[in-house]
Amino acid sequence: MITENDLKVLFKEDEIQGAIKTLGERLNQEYRDEELYLICVLKGAVMFMVDLSKHLKMPLRMEFIRLSSYGSGFSSTGKVNAVDISLPDLNDKNVLIIEDIIDTGHTAKFLMDFIRHNFKTKSLKFCSLLDKKIKREVDIDPDYHAFEVDDKFLVGYGLDYDGYYRNLPYIGYV
Ligand code: IMP
Ligand code: MG
Repeated sequence: MITENDLKVLFKEDEIQGAIKTLGERLNQEYRDEELYLICVLKGAVMFMVDLSKHLKMPLRMEFIRLSSYGSGFSSTGKVNAVDISLPDLNDKNVLIIEDIIDTGHTAKFLMDFIRHNFKTKSLKFCSLLDKKIKREVDIDPDYHAFEVDDKFLVGYGLDYDGYYRNLPYIGYV
């Protein structure tokens, strides 16, 4: 069992919150005079979604879907499971998918394809707190991200190891 003492801090709470505020201001500009649907990918993106949404000023609706690609280990399987992906009618809507981290890109690609296949959205974009670019296996990049990270297994602020550490207000690594 890894304990909190084994963790090194990568992004402190105020760094994360500062970056989210900046991102929120950018989204307020980009979606000015528009309505927006945020789609939170549970469970990892829950902290990010909640904190980001508090900065947003446009008429906003939130949906939550549950996907999983990781087992309980340190590396991505590349296989995405749709645990619960029930969504309202997104035709003609501005849709922004909210993720904690984009790693191999399989999850992002699966979701973007799923939404494109089922709806004719007004716009569809992808917003990830973290971008682990160096691990990418499919050709996809987030439209918005706060931090680029290297190939470390990260925990905290929504990110888990075996279900633990999601509650940490900072992001750390072992
Ligand atoms: P992808 O499909 O490989 O892009 O993986 C995306 C998902 O893997 C994310 O939504 C996370 O849940 C998980 N993930 C990727 N990297 C990490 C990490 O460093 N720590 C914890 N979870 C991670
Ligand atoms: Mg996730």
